Amino acid sequence: MSRQFTTAIRGDFFDIAACVDHPQQIAEQLRHIPDGLMLLNEGRIVWHGSWRQGKTLPPPGFAVTDYRGKLIVPGFIDMHIHYPQTEMIAAYGEQLLEWLDNYTFPTESRFSCQQHASKISAFFLQQLLSNGTTTALVFGTVHPQSVDVLFTQAAALNMRLIAGKVMMDRHAPPELLETPEQSYRQTRTLIERWHGKQRRSYAITPRFAPTSTPELLAQVQRLLEEFPDVYLQTHLSEDLEEVNWVKALFPDSHNYLDVYHSYGLTGSKSVFAHCLHLEEQEWDCLSQTQSAIAFCPTSNLFLSSGLFNLQKAWQKQVKLGIGTDVGAGTTFNMLQTLGAAYKVSQLQRYRLSAGEAFYHATLGGVHALSLDDKIGNFNVGKEADFVVLNQAVSPLQKLRCDNSNSLADQLFMLMILGDDRNIYRTYVDGRVVYQVATTLTNNLSHKALRRRHIS
Ligand code: GUN
Ligand code: ZN
Repeated sequence: MSRQFTTAIRGDFFDIAACVDHPQQIAEQLRHIPDGLMLLNEGRIVWHGSWRQGKTLPPPGFAVTDYRGKLIVPGFIDMHIHYPQTEMIAAYGEQLLEWLDNYTFPTESRFSCQQHASKISAFFLQQLLSNGTTTALVFGTVHPQSVDVLFTQAAALNMRLIAGKVMMDRHAPPELLETPEQSYRQTRTLIERWHGKQRRSYAITPRFAPTSTPELLAQVQRLLEEFPDVYLQTHLSEDLEEVNWVKALFPDSHNYLDVYHSYGLTGSKSVFAHCLHLEEQEWDCLSQTQSAIAFCPTSNLFLSSGLFNLQKAWQKQVKLGIGTDVGAGTTFNMLQTLGAAYKVSQLQRYRLSAGEAFYHATLGGVHALSLDDKIGNFNVGKEADFVVLNQAVSPLQKLRCDNSNSLADQLFMLMILGDDRNIYRTYVDGRVVYQVATTLTNNLSHKALRRRHIS
């Protein structure tokens, strides 16, 4: 190993060693080091193993940050989220299409003001970090400045973030519409400005088929041809009314996905959110093109869109990650989102284990984004994005934890009972970017914030 390191972290580490093709293989890949050591050189992991093996590596007097009693996991990956919808989370009473008209479009209109965008974007990034999410695939609004401010702020944290300006040219209020040519030019400028700059990547973002004319989709295709390694993100088959509308708008297409596929928008860098009502041919097309799905359980329940078939995704070998889909999703918190994924799966008699759930939220999502060589676990050489979890923060969690005798049980308890209170610290690029507030409770915070240094 490289003897050079700047940070040493001791604690209880849990991650998943390698990507898998079947859920049954996950158990073999779970890696738990109850008393471990991780050495970082700036933002990179240079050594990871047991404390017993590694304790002589830090020289005498070197400060080791001691998180014993807490659980350290890779940073969570949010595969689908709309930052401009942060302020309209929990909007009452509608299903997808009315929800868009009544709440979403008016809220997104406010992002023509850069100051507003900047304020919400800063709040949004703090929400991600205080929930342990270190990488996200993010929708902006149609306004290019919405993405500029988000990337600028993510760059200040050196966060690995993928985002794009929404493209849409019909079926939305006039102030949110653009021409296909304008959409192309503005997106092109943003790609050139942000894509591949340190840890930022661009995602071409046609909102969904109903807000896209064939001319707009042709411009999206043109951009993808010009920039083949950028991402593409959009929505697919979320709501039955939406699916029928797409069939009416694109009568020549075989199915909803075929609208995108016929413009070359499927592929290994494409992420389709929801995918609740897919036909067999659409599953096959996603699989054959190595496209990925963002499973957004709290959103699907909130808008009563439907139940995602996780088992089918495995059967069809379609790559997948978990999205919160805020503001249709009801939380930024990945633990709560995994809890919802469990319930959605239970309703279909598929048992989502804690190991599988954490896989989707970390290495699995990373694999779906083709970032496996960079993040997702604690392998040497990976970028140091991780979360320090407090396993029990409430009296109920403590009681339940005391009654737990395996890591699998503790992880499952966390995804059913856990929330942002369980996020003790978040690291991005090897640095603390969030730590639990001292005001939580006097008792808890003083103890919780005490940092022990061991030499
Ligand atoms: N379909 C098109 N736009 C949106 C959106 O903003 N949120 C969700 N959940 N679905 C969409
Ligand atoms: Zn969405």
